[in-house]
Amino acid sequence: MSAEDYAVTPHPQAATAEERAGLMAAPVFGEVFTDHVARATWTPDAGWGHRRIEPFADLSLHPGATVLHYGQQVFEGLKAYRWADGSIRLFRPEANAARMAASAVRLSLPPVPEDDFLASIEALVRVDQEWVPDEGEASLYLRPLLIGTEPSLAVRPSRRVEYMLLACPVGSYFSGGVKPVSIWVAQGFHRAGAGGTGQAKTAGNYAASMQPQQQAQDHGCDQVLFLDARDDRYIEELGGMNVFAVRRDGSVWTPRITGTILEGVTRASVIELLRAAGREVVERDIALDELRAGIEDGSVVEAFACGTAAVVTPIARLVSPDFDVLVGDGGAGAVTSWLRETLTDIQYGRADDALGWMRRVL
Ligand SMILES: Cc1ncc(COP(=O)(O)O)c(C=O)c1O
Repeated sequence: MSAEDYAVTPHPQAATAEERAGLMAAPVFGEVFTDHVARATWTPDAGWGHRRIEPFADLSLHPGATVLHYGQQVFEGLKAYRWADGSIRLFRPEANAARMAASAVRLSLPPVPEDDFLASIEALVRVDQEWVPDEGEASLYLRPLLIGTEPSLAVRPSRRVEYMLLACPVGSYFSGGVKPVSIWVAQGFHRAGAGGTGQAKTAGNYAASMQPQQQAQDHGCDQVLFLDARDDRYIEELGGMNVFAVRRDGSVWTPRITGTILEGVTRASVIELLRAAGREVVERDIALDELRAGIEDGSVVEAFACGTAAVVTPIARLVSPDFDVLVGDGGAGAVTSWLRETLTDIQYGRADDALGWMRRVL
């Protein structure tokens, strides 16, 4: 499969250069979309087919479509970066392809093969290349998704599935420099249980995270931290980011992958970068009590969250009804800052891509 397999119907009223510049000047995350969308359709008999690039438009969807009733959906999130030489690169898209395929299997949706996934991105980025920002830490956020579209209220896997790829120019996640975040420990809510869908990137996980996220905001915090559902004791992840703690002895800890945590591409990359730099990285169960005690006695000197959207973000405070602790001095620590810089330097082509993570699409 290659980008040529996606038949292009150009948008009859694509944005003019001036309109585009206005839209891209200060885009709110996920609210500005490019002119086109990549699509493909799956049926049990034909498999994946009807690959196309279409003008971006509202969908026509049967009100009985499976996704609207039973949430049969999975999605991904990755970015395209413009380098100083004008070329456009993706960061580890094969990892997103693999995770989307795994999510699809969990939701009984047909996986999109890796070459097809990559071809759809290349095809869309070619057509909408002018939408890839060239300044600062801006990028083109890519949102692939799969939805069950069969018009049937039967509770069984949809016999018609649509793949779509949307793209949004996004600015730096933090305008005016990286802002350390405060974290609220979810009270009475869990993100995922054993055997559930925690390891899949599927809409329902995010729908269920909004009430606990609101709880965090009601307590003056930016993000919610989930504990494990079995013991209500071990830290898992934030609503949309993985978490790490840097210890005074130089080692770095992060919750191990248990099946209830989304395995972040950024998380895996951070682990590789730290290990390549000679640091010990420990993936283990981390009790909230242990983390809190470490922050209080100074054995934990930094904490950070990481994900595609915000890259690496310092955690300033950990808050629950029982405590409110400041991590280090509440600012960005040395390891956190180094990781953020190292990753973004690779993504924007300012540093050698020694680990071979960047894939050129144009
Ligand atoms: C629940 C959750 N955890 C972790 C992450 C970080 O994953 P990645 O680094 O692949 O963006 C995300 C974002 O995709 C997420 O939604």
